[in-house]
Amino acid sequence: MAILSGQVAIITGAARGIGAGIAELLAQHGATVLISDANAEGAAIFAAQLQAQGYSAVAQRTDVTSAADRHALVANTLTQFGRIDILVNNAGVLAPVTLDEMTETEWDRLMGINLKAAFFCAQAVVPTMRAAQRGRIINIASMSARTGGLASPMHYVTAKTGMLGLTRGLARLVAPFGITVNSICPGFIETDMATVWTPETRERLVATIPLGRFGTSHDVAGAAFFLCSPYADYVTGITLDVNGGSHIQ
Ligand SMILES: NC(=O)c1ccc[n+]([C@@H]2O[C@H](COP(=O)([O-])OP(=O)(O)OC[C@H]3O[C@@H](n4cnc5c(N)ncnc54)[C@H](O)[C@@H]3O)[C@@H](O)[C@H]2O)c1
Repeated sequence: MAILSGQVAIITGAARGIGAGIAELLAQHGATVLISDANAEGAAIFAAQLQAQGYSAVAQRTDVTSAADRHALVANTLTQFGRIDILVNNAGVLAPVTLDEMTETEWDRLMGINLKAAFFCAQAVVPTMRAAQRGRIINIASMSARTGGLASPMHYVTAKTGMLGLTRGLARLVAPFGITVNSICPGFIETDMATVWTPETRERLVATIPLGRFGTSHDVAGAAFFLCSPYADYVTGITLDVNGGSHIQ
């Protein structure tokens, strides 16, 4: 039997990129995956692709900054499947804003998506996980939370560093209910988000990666699968680096 057979996983921002990679791998291992994304069309197309491969996948339009959307996501998942075993807080944005150009509006916008929503998505799934005395929450942070950021704006670095604090605090809080909470810090991963890098930046960045290549969404998905699997039953509160050796602590 597949390792995640019978389990239900919500992945935010799963229409493409790292979230899509995670959703696909969890589905391949037997999970039913909720392809949740603000991009309704992208989520529907990707869920249909997974279904065509024989996997159990459902799309749901969710803007993670909307309380109504978050509650609808959880309520609909429970109505359809009766359980939520895994939450991957993956939805995120990157806006290349300089120190001088930063505005409070832009700071709050990015914090809302990249940090605040992760807490409230977790808050929304904890009651059902607590009732089941079991659950997995994975927060997708960033290597910039480890390094202070090599090519990232300040609000992004701050939000991702906050994800590590959220992971540690929440891990302690919900451990008595059998729920684990862990972070993944991806390094430089080839997704649409990486299109902000200029050719010069790409050249500079790849030269800093000891394994000699950018990462893929599959590289990050492998780490997420491990954290969802029974092999990580006793792992909570950690930060798992997936960066090709770019940052070694
Ligand atoms: N690509 C990288 O190099 C890299 C490195 C470190 C961390 N990360 C993190 O990994 C995560 C995924 O990044 P990616 O590279 O796949 O990016 P991406 O831009 O390819 O995908 C992000 C997805 O999130 C969705 N999204 C954006 N705002 C949303 C919202 N408010 N509600 C719901 N969905 C929303 C988008 O529609 C998109 O489908 C992000 O949290 C990002 O910060 C990426």
